Amino acid sequence: MWTKKDLEETIKNKFGAYDFIVVSNREPYVHEHSGKKVRCVKSIGGLTAAMDPIMQASKGVWVAYGSGDADKDVVDKDNKIKVPPEDPKYSLKRIWMTKEEENGFYYGYANQVLWPLSHIAYRQPVFDASHWEYYQEVNQRFAEAVLEEKRDNKLFVWLQDYHLSLCAKIIKEKSPDAIVSLFWHIPWPNPEVFRICPQKKKLLEGLLANDLLGFHLRYHCLNFLDTVRQEMEAKVNREESSVTYRNHKTLVRPFPISVDAEGISQMANNKEVKKRMKIIPEEIGPPYEILCLSIDRVDYTKGILEKIRAVDRFLEKYPEYQGRFVFLELGALSRLHIKTYKQLIDDIESLAEEVNWKYRSGYWYPIVIINRRLDYTTHLAYYRTCDLFLVGSLHDGMNLVAKEYNMANVDLKGMLVLSQFTGAARELKDAILINPFDIEGVADAIFSVCKMSEKERKRRARKMQKVILENNIYKWAGKFILQLSEL
Ligand code: F6P
Repeated sequence: MWTKKDLEETIKNKFGAYDFIVVSNREPYVHEHSGKKVRCVKSIGGLTAAMDPIMQASKGVWVAYGSGDADKDVVDKDNKIKVPPEDPKYSLKRIWMTKEEENGFYYGYANQVLWPLSHIAYRQPVFDASHWEYYQEVNQRFAEAVLEEKRDNKLFVWLQDYHLSLCAKIIKEKSPDAIVSLFWHIPWPNPEVFRICPQKKKLLEGLLANDLLGFHLRYHCLNFLDTVRQEMEAKVNREESSVTYRNHKTLVRPFPISVDAEGISQMANNKEVKKRMKIIPEEIGPPYEILCLSIDRVDYTKGILEKIRAVDRFLEKYPEYQGRFVFLELGALSRLHIKTYKQLIDDIESLAEEVNWKYRSGYWYPIVIINRRLDYTTHLAYYRTCDLFLVGSLHDGMNLVAKEYNMANVDLKGMLVLSQFTGAARELKDAILINPFDIEGVADAIFSVCKMSEKERKRRARKMQKVILENNIYKWAGKFILQLSEL
C-alpha cells in the first residue's frame, strides 16, 4: 500500500532537481470575512480533496484562483500564503480575476462549453466568442504565474482539469525544458460529441503540448485518441497510447483517482464525529428507521431529480416503507451564476415538495434537502449514520464521494448504491450498481438494500474498503509521477 511517505520519497528521488508546481482553478483553502474576523475554509470538490494530501507530501507550490473575499488580505507580496493554516506544508500562490474574467472563463467557457460537452449531459453547450477570449486570457495568466516560479531548477508542472487546456503550450514555449502534464478530472467524450466545438483544434493543440495527459479510465483515453485522429494532423499510436504532434510526443494514460483512504477512516473514528452523530436525527427533522443519504454538488450531472423520482417510486411500490424511510440530499450549491444551475435548484425544491405532499403523514415526510455548507466532521458523521448511500450521477469521471463514503463507513453498517456511469463503478464492483435513468430499477435497488442481511452488507463493504485502501490517492499520484519519470 502506498503511503504519504512513499510519495514524498518518489517525488524527491525522481524530481528532486525540479520545482514541483500544481495548478488548478479551484483553490484548496479559501479566506473569507466572517464579521470582523477572517476565517479559512477548505474548498469542497473532488479535485482539491485529492490534491491537498499530495501537496502536503510534495511541499511544492499550488497556483490557483483566489476566490475568497479575504484572499487578497492574507497573501504576501508574491501573492502566496502557507497552508494548511493549522500546520503549513506548502505554498498556495493565488492569481486574481475580474468579475468579467471569472464570468467568461469559469462560468462561461469552462462550465457552459467544456463541462456539458465532456459529460454528454444533454444540455446544449453555450458557445459565446467572448467566453473563449476570457478562457484564453485566464489560461495565459495561470501559465505566467507558473513561469514566475522558474529560478535555477527546471519546472515540473502538474495542471489540473478542463479549466487549463491551453496552459501547457504557453509554458513550453517559454520554458521548453519544463516537464508539463495535465490530469483531466472529468470524462472525455466521443469524437461525435466533441466535433461540434468551434475551438476544438486550439483546445487539442493546447492539450498536446503536455508530456503526459491523464484520464480516469482507459475508455476516456481511447475517446481522446479517436478525437485527435479525427480532428488533427497528428500521429496517433493506439498501441503505445500516445500522440505525436509537431514532433512532440504526449503519452495518454488512465489513472483512476482516489482518496486518502486510511486518513478518512481514522478521521471518521474520532470522538468529535461520534458526538455529531448523536445530533443528526434532530437535525434531519422527520423521524426515520432507514436513512438514505446522498452528498453532491448541486449539478445536473449528479442525477438529483432522478433520485427523488426513484424514492417516490420506491415508496409507491413498497408502501410498507412509508413512515420509516427518509432520503436526505446534502447538496452543496455551486456555479450559481449559470441559469441551468439556478433552474435546477428550483426544480429540486418543487419536486421534493410534491413528493413530500404526496406521502406526508404526521411528523414524517420522505425527502429532506439541506443546501447549507457543512464541515467535514459533520459529513463524516452523516456517512456513519446512514443505512444506504446513493450515488446517482448520470455521468461522472470518477465520483470520489463514493470512495470517501466507503472509507468512512467504519462500522460497515451502510451500503453503497452506485451509478454504473461513474468511474468508481469500475472499481467498486461490490456496490449495488444502478442505471440512474431507470427509475424502476433504482427503486428496486433501494428495496434490495433495505432487505439485505447485515452479513452481506459487511462482506461487500469490507471488499470495497480493501480495493480503495490498495488504490489510494498516494498510489494515484505516485504512478502518475513514475510515468513521467520514464519519459
Ligand atoms: O469533478 C470535476 C470538478 O471540476 C472537480 O475537478 C472539482 O472538484 C469539482 O468539479 C468542483 O467544481 P468547481 O471547482 O467548479 O466547484
